[in-house]
Amino acid sequence: MTQTTAHQTDQYLCPVRNSGQSSSSELDGPELNLQLAEVYQKETEASCSDNLTGLFTHGFFHFLLEHEINRSKRYGTCFTIGFIDIDSFDRYNRKHGSLKGDRVLRDCANVIRNHIRKVDVAARFGGDIFAVLFPETDPLQAEAALTRILTQIKHISGNSLTASAGFAAYPVEAGSKRHVISKAEEALREAKANGRNRSYGFGSEFTPTDELETEAPLVLVVDDEPLNREMVAYMLERKDYRVLQASNGAEAIKMVHDSDIDLIFMDVMMPEMNGFEACRRIKTSSETRMIPVVLLTALDDLESKVKGIEAGADEFITRPPNKMELLARDASLVKVKKLNDSFTSIENVLFALANAVEIKDHYTQGHIQRVADLAAAIGRRMGMSQARINALRFGGILHDIGKIGIPETILNKAGRLTDEEWKVMKTHPEMGYSICLPLEKILGPALGAIRHHHEKLDGTGYPDGLKDDAITMEARILAVADIYDALTTTRRYRKAMSPSKAVAILREEAADGKLDISVVSELVGIIDLNETPGPFATDCGQHTSSSNDADAVDSRLASPSI
Ligand SMILES: [Fe+2]
Repeated sequence: MTQTTAHQTDQYLCPVRNSGQSSSSELDGPELNLQLAEVYQKETEASCSDNLTGLFTHGFFHFLLEHEINRSKRYGTCFTIGFIDIDSFDRYNRKHGSLKGDRVLRDCANVIRNHIRKVDVAARFGGDIFAVLFPETDPLQAEAALTRILTQIKHISGNSLTASAGFAAYPVEAGSKRHVISKAEEALREAKANGRNRSYGFGSEFTPTDELETEAPLVLVVDDEPLNREMVAYMLERKDYRVLQASNGAEAIKMVHDSDIDLIFMDVMMPEMNGFEACRRIKTSSETRMIPVVLLTALDDLESKVKGIEAGADEFITRPPNKMELLARDASLVKVKKLNDSFTSIENVLFALANAVEIKDHYTQGHIQRVADLAAAIGRRMGMSQARINALRFGGILHDIGKIGIPETILNKAGRLTDEEWKVMKTHPEMGYSICLPLEKILGPALGAIRHHHEKLDGTGYPDGLKDDAITMEARILAVADIYDALTTTRRYRKAMSPSKAVAILREEAADGKLDISVVSELVGIIDLNETPGPFATDCGQHTSSSNDADAVDSRLASPSI
């Protein structure tokens, strides 16, 4: 991860106020915070200050965050929030006692206080998690500050304690309070999953979009003259692109439907079907219209360019192609294509639906994202390909999308579900599968995992009662990640279990022949069994899990036949 100083970040797309320039007539920094503290205390009758550390409280931090979002909307500025979590703090507490643990928390608070600016805001977010709000600060600047804080925390403990940090920026990486918090939390989880003692930003190297770009682009070269095709293919292959070749438009059309092409270089004058007609057909098909088409035309052939524009071509290259020009066009168009792939309109609708389920089910805040992260981390540990890890992320986000069709009276029922209600609830994997089926090509193995995330190896799961090898590894991983998250987050009538208790239950389930023990073992390698329940299950009780998934777990544990 790149670190940088403030003066290096001028070009960052996040608008940051220049030094000394006032964005409003309001008070700034500490004075404003004091005024806001008065308002907060009056309205909530709650304290703004944490008794142990003297930093602001979790509640007041949320209040300030809302204020900062409003300010950002008014003046078009951005801000970054960071979470700092002491690594394995529970273990330290057990070993040294809570008095020493409290001392560490106070020392960490002092470090944070001494390494942020006057305008920044630090709070004890809960337990051993601290939050910092960096107003009008881009993520690179915030990262530099967080890295300094992590270094100092190591020093105060004589290198016996480390801390991890995660950060995210508003509005460039998240457009709401909930999202900026969950993105920073996600970054913190990633920092911990990748060895702790480091800071990660949302949007850095672990984002799904980056991961999707890791496979070499596939380029189709279409020309009736073999020598011309070979020449272009040679240039592209030297840059590690994968290359397919077609000798006319009709052949090209067939290939774009059969392969996941990222870019097409097309000659215009060809037998059977010329380049203009092939381009027009590609650009009018909903399945292929996002593939960039570059037409190879003769110098100053204005008529061909006009025809090409009418056919929907994205670019023109004069033949014989110049190597530098060809590769430059290629790189930029492939990047656009990859981004388009990640955010096709249908996919956006599905992700919006998945979020709608979270809103509908009052107890699922953050559940799908956590399951996606955990499933991807397990897949990485198992050495899966990037494509399969991407599928685990998609599967994690979409696994419960079928709940969109489950009545809210069942989804949010306070007590246990009746047999009839369970029958309805158990339709959600099939419903999710049907909803996602049109995206079969994009989702790949995620589609089957959405349908089978409640299957059990002994055949007692649903909806298909699959057994053993009939259940894909993706579905087995999703099942473990789903149950683990349900157990380690709070719900209406049960507090979150500790990671060690949740793992014990998962191991029992594996011993009973229901879950894959190899997946449970990989999970144990990722999580910290000594941590408090759920990475962000703070005393504020903000993070709760899907009542129904947790119900499912509890009911199944009580009655193995379900
Ligand atoms: Fe489910």
